[in-house]
Amino acid sequence: MLARLDELYEVKMWDEEDTPVPREVLEKEIVDIDGLYCLLTENVDAELLSRAKKLKVISNMAVGFNNIDVEAATNKGVMVTNTPGVLTETTADLTFALLMATARRIVESSEYLKEGKWKTWSPMQLTGQDIYGATVGIIGLGRIGEAFAKRAKGFDMNILYHNRSRKSEVEQELGITYVEKETLLQKSDYVVVLTPYSLETKDLIDQHELALMKETAVLINTSRGGIVNETALYHALKEGQIWAAGLDVFEEEPISLNHRLLSLPNVTVLPHIGSASKKTRIKMAIMAADHLSQALQGERPTHLINEITGVK
Ligand code: GLV
Ligand code: GLV
Repeated sequence: MLARLDELYEVKMWDEEDTPVPREVLEKEIVDIDGLYCLLTENVDAELLSRAKKLKVISNMAVGFNNIDVEAATNKGVMVTNTPGVLTETTADLTFALLMATARRIVESSEYLKEGKWKTWSPMQLTGQDIYGATVGIIGLGRIGEAFAKRAKGFDMNILYHNRSRKSEVEQELGITYVEKETLLQKSDYVVVLTPYSLETKDLIDQHELALMKETAVLINTSRGGIVNETALYHALKEGQIWAAGLDVFEEEPISLNHRLLSLPNVTVLPHIGSASKKTRIKMAIMAADHLSQALQGERPTHLINEITGVK
């Protein structure tokens, strides 16, 4: 990926895998670069963009782009690209894996064994919720939502969904049912959040929504933190308003080890690994590099998010 870019451009790269680019470095470097290749750890806000003198393109190596102020970029004539499609199936796999892990207490059970707590087999020990035949409600039926629904169908789940727009063809093809958000929350054994983050989806699952859910329900979020209000979720889990949650994303990442949510036994957590298969991450990296090259060579990048005057 780097080799491709290196042939054509002068590349400046932050290459410490374990720490994101410090803000000061970004602020200094953004001034004179033509293209920015970034990850979801970089907060490309209006203030940062205001420093750029030559920037033409921001290529995000992620499908979600809530780390970028797209409006500010558009106003400055800067193209923004993302990497949709290539991570759809991988992220749907992880979402289903997290649902199963949470429902069947896989991580907790493994720890139980390793901590030497397994003294005997007993009838109700580490019992969880059934997946086969249960009702799942998908909030956000985009590419990943659809791919998730296919997996759920294989488990003979009854599938409900809520989305900004109805998708009649998908309803027919997969035998899934559109319902209002309230109905979905009331009827689902599993509520799976797969909608992008925006001002409209911030706190989409808050106190009121959690209160509508079943006491046996499991909530899964693999999209973005902040869509589920963490304070409300903590109380709902603590007080047994819902049964468990599986989270791959958080309001702040990395989540602090002192966060109250991590103290609960009925929370299964992952460090934002939805798209983390080797093949998919390589595809995303190549796609993001291609977008950068396309834009710098005056072409329209394949996955351009914003409309920029002069870019056809
Ligand atoms: C990962 O979260 C992505 O948006 O690609
Ligand atoms: C959006 O994140 C999608 O790929 O469905």
